[in-house]
Amino acid sequence: MPDQTDAAPPTQIGRRKDDHLTVAARDDIEHVHRGGFERYRLRHRALPGRDLAEVDLSVEVLGKRLAAPLLIASMTGGTERAREVNAKLAIAAEAAGLAMGLGSGRAALEHPELTPTFLLPVRPPLLFANLGAVQLRRGLGPADAERLVDLMQADALFLHLNPIQEAVQPEGDTEFGGLTELIAAVVKRLRPRPVVVKEVGFGLSPEDVAELLSAGVAAIDVSGAGGTNWALIEGQRDPAAGEVARAFADWGWPTVTSLREAVRLADPAGVPIFASGGIRDGVDAAIALALGARLAGFARPMLLAAFEDRATETAQLLVRQLRIATWAVGAARVSDLSAAHLLHDGAPIDGTPVSAR
Ligand SMILES: Cc1cc2nc3c(=O)[nH]c(=O)nc-3n(C[C@H](O)[C@H](O)[C@H](O)COP(=O)(O)O)c2cc1C
Repeated sequence: MPDQTDAAPPTQIGRRKDDHLTVAARDDIEHVHRGGFERYRLRHRALPGRDLAEVDLSVEVLGKRLAAPLLIASMTGGTERAREVNAKLAIAAEAAGLAMGLGSGRAALEHPELTPTFLLPVRPPLLFANLGAVQLRRGLGPADAERLVDLMQADALFLHLNPIQEAVQPEGDTEFGGLTELIAAVVKRLRPRPVVVKEVGFGLSPEDVAELLSAGVAAIDVSGAGGTNWALIEGQRDPAAGEVARAFADWGWPTVTSLREAVRLADPAGVPIFASGGIRDGVDAAIALALGARLAGFARPMLLAAFEDRATETAQLLVRQLRIATWAVGAARVSDLSAAHLLHDGAPIDGTPVSAR
């Protein structure tokens, strides 16, 4: 869960975390529209030019080598049930060589005895701790963010921005004024460890991206609209939130729109952009990568897989789909994917005639 509300005893935080896991797995908590991937197709080649096994999916992200540019997105921690989910996700991430985010660690900062519920049986090659950026307005500072990364034995920190989730709740934390400066202070304190800012499923505007670049973040995950909708989740947990949340069923930047704008702004600065929000298979991931994302993230699909005890198989399936997609557009390496491998509404999008490629 994205973070919320005031300090609560472990049992109350625990109930909320477990509630989030249950509600997030329901069918009716996704955005009304998909994230824009449906308007793109990869340019199929019937003569891919090499053997499937020759395709290289490996990448380096934030200084770590991954077997494929996929991320099991931040979800949970802080309860026994959350520990079990994270253990399955970590085993999957480690086996497939993927990055992984832990859920918000605020509970562990406030109740250190909960720290073991965040610890993993195996170590994914790139591991992110996670904290709600709004907590920087509620008593937590750069030193706490640093302590969290140490407690979680993580490589990097995700700070999440979840204004809609907070605002639809009767007592959510809505003090979002001045957050950019506070994020910059965390970046400075943690350097050289990377701080990455993410949304939780409503996307980032170009202005947000520009502010985050000025704050010195190491990367940005746009986490756009198209998949999990946190207004709808909170709406199912509380009738008062539900009345407010209804209007936000179709709110936010579609993932693809937010991604394209973010890449345009961040590329010149050399800052990697990650994509998540409604990425549902390896072909969606390949489209996101072709649009300039450096990592494609999956939350809900991996949550459902963990509940079905299929997290490792699902991670391997996503990698296999990505391998086939990369191969079948004629690319030798996943890092070669670009707009030249895409059709938008059936037409090439980079102005180069198909025959000239
Ligand atoms: C059960 C669940 C818990 C989540 N908790 C967090 C969290 O603690 N911190 C965070 O940054 N994002 C959290 N998210 C948001 C995801 O990281 C991701 O941004 C969002 O779900 C969009 O991806 P999806 O459409 O693949 O689910 C959570 C998502 C789910 C499904």
